[in-house]
Amino acid sequence: MSVLVSGGAGYIGSHACVELLQAGYEIIAADNFYNASPEALRRVEQITGKKVPFVKADMTDKAQVEAIFEAHPDIDCVIQFAAYKAVGESVQKPVEYYYNNLNCTLVILDVMRRHGCYNFIFSSSATVYGDPASVPITEEFPVGATTNPYGTTKAFTERILTDLCKAEPRMNVALLRYFNPIGAHPSGLIGEDPNGIPNNLVPYIAKVAVGKLKEVHVFGNDYPTPDGTGVRDYIHVVDLAKGHVAALKKLETKPGLFICNLGTGHGYSVLDVIHAFEKACGKKLPYVVDPRRPGDIAECWADPSKAKRELGWQAEYGIEEMCRDSWNWQSKNPDGYNS
Ligand code: UD1
Repeated sequence: MSVLVSGGAGYIGSHACVELLQAGYEIIAADNFYNASPEALRRVEQITGKKVPFVKADMTDKAQVEAIFEAHPDIDCVIQFAAYKAVGESVQKPVEYYYNNLNCTLVILDVMRRHGCYNFIFSSSATVYGDPASVPITEEFPVGATTNPYGTTKAFTERILTDLCKAEPRMNVALLRYFNPIGAHPSGLIGEDPNGIPNNLVPYIAKVAVGKLKEVHVFGNDYPTPDGTGVRDYIHVVDLAKGHVAALKKLETKPGLFICNLGTGHGYSVLDVIHAFEKACGKKLPYVVDPRRPGDIAECWADPSKAKRELGWQAEYGIEEMCRDSWNWQSKNPDGYNS
């Protein structure tokens, strides 16, 4: 099976390329490097010892996507990672977010059908559940009550793909709802390399640990959680990447629409993560408590049993390995791919 990895140079995309190559799949990576570096793909080659065929392309441009399928008529599945992903920025720039995130998928789907390609894996998010009524969250929970345009692009795209599966019985789609991916490949060669000051917790902690930022800002300690700070289901990015290989195998059984959480089923608080990272890097990490961040929820973790049952997949790494590998990447690459 030959797989087009759209957004293949990004954080999750690059880890997925490694796991796909190691599982024996042929891949073609595409990226416009808006928020990614070509160096990531060179390092995927270094890890796997395999060449990564690559196309620089903007997936919202139909001619460019068409050219990829013409050059690679054997593509029989697309994994669609290409998207803008900063929650705060999406509130400031909703048009850019809706335009880019929806069009990347719509353009790919339009081109796919002209080339007889009917398998699609979508990089969705637990954000589609909004503020869940309870935890753990199963796939049956209501979706769509999102709290920001980024999340809404995920919910809208899920809806588009659901409608497509009803209209086109040949279509096989996996909607993978990621919880909070963190960590890095254990080699320390690829990892998360955000532009500017990180928005997400673990990249921020990692910058404090490496001395690039002064202290961690804990967004609220008055949530109804054991220590008052927000609780999330952090998942090692390598486990998450392996979840895509499992989903690809599932699509080979022609399931039609398949929806699945990818999480560990364990929740950790902001303070738990800071302490786990301190253990990983061997130093105390200064933090201050700030007010809650608008739009944040108290707690969110997955019921991962469907993935285990139907994909035969479950997360193997715990919070210690996640922080160890995140620190390994950050300390070896203090300025990310520009180090
Ligand atoms: C957000 C997005 C999610 C996306 C994920 C990864 C929403 C509501 N959330 O998740 O869709 O998949 O990023 O990109 O759309 N925190 C701090 N200090 C910080 C940063 C975060 O205390 O500097 C806290 C937050 O309040 C939260 C936890 O850490 O309790 C995790 O935050 P973060 O890493 O930003 O991820 P989410 O907001 O859960």
